Amino acid sequence: MPEPTGYPILDDLLPRLARVEELDAAALENEHIAVLGRKAGILTAASKQIPTLPPEERRAFGAAVNRVKAAFESAVEARRAALAEAARRAEAGAVDATMPARRRWSGAEHPISATMREVGEIFRGLGFVVATGPEVESEWYNFHALNFPPNHPALDMHDTLYVDGAPLPGADGGRQLLRTHTSPVQVRALLAQAPPVRILVPGMVYRNDPFDPSHAPAFQQIEGLVVDEGITFVDLKATLVHFARRLFAADVRTRFRPSFFPFTEPSAEMDVECQLCRGGGCPACKGTGWMEILGCGMVHPRVLENCGVDAERYTGFAFGMGPGRMTMLRHGITDIRTLYQGDMRLLTQLGA
Ligand code: DAH
Repeated sequence: MPEPTGYPILDDLLPRLARVEELDAAALENEHIAVLGRKAGILTAASKQIPTLPPEERRAFGAAVNRVKAAFESAVEARRAALAEAARRAEAGAVDATMPARRRWSGAEHPISATMREVGEIFRGLGFVVATGPEVESEWYNFHALNFPPNHPALDMHDTLYVDGAPLPGADGGRQLLRTHTSPVQVRALLAQAPPVRILVPGMVYRNDPFDPSHAPAFQQIEGLVVDEGITFVDLKATLVHFARRLFAADVRTRFRPSFFPFTEPSAEMDVECQLCRGGGCPACKGTGWMEILGCGMVHPRVLENCGVDAERYTGFAFGMGPGRMTMLRHGITDIRTLYQGDMRLLTQLGA
């Protein structure tokens, strides 16, 4: 295959040259005439231009024409020979070994799955075990047990997708909904198991949001919960900083900003130094040099009590992150829909 020549009339032929070996006998002869034909062939026309060029350009252009011509001629010759050989074998009843193979698709791990797997590996190394819960939840698990006040705006139909049907009876009932976060699994875990608890909860969550560059109506979250005697904010910080260093880079800078969640007190959000600009400021981090990767805090004593855990004896910390958002930040993807459209070009480019 010759190098590009810099002359469009010749370079336009290079992709056609690459395809010569896929042509059948009739297409091969047509291509031969179209490119090398003495009357109207493209390369014949190119040769005819040589005498019209300024003398100093003639030599370089002529040489380029000859190179492409020689390559085409030998490709056509090679394909003719291969087809003749195939015809001879076919006559003898053999398999046509020159038939172009079909390109094979090979699957790859989705970039969000890759992020989730890496997050899981890091926390497994810290002794966390995976817990899961239902995607159709009751209001009690999703909101009330987590200390959301009854009039909290998140409970509005506007934000939450409710499931048709009668409200579930009982103290842990209420309207049925598609869980808006993985936090209700904290409640389920604490009800099912006495401390110490150390769980990681990957799963899908749902919100009544339009599908736009920064929202998806269904997306993944990963929740973490640690409850034991003597757990403090130092445990939270050490765990999450260790996590960020393992996931991003050993020297990554992190910061905690005060925040608010009904189920934690105090609450914080953790930022890591923007991985695309290394803190300098770029469009992905909106010029701040930081990217927010998770919410966290000390489990609110009321949540422990709602789950029958003695809040005098036990304390805990929790965190929640969006692996889709983290995947966007890692790869500089600015439209979340890109990750959910099953575009094979993205999946083969980013797939492991
Ligand atoms: N549930 C929160 C959300 O969906 C995320 C979150 C924040 C989870 C803080 C936590 C936490 O466990 O401590 O926005």
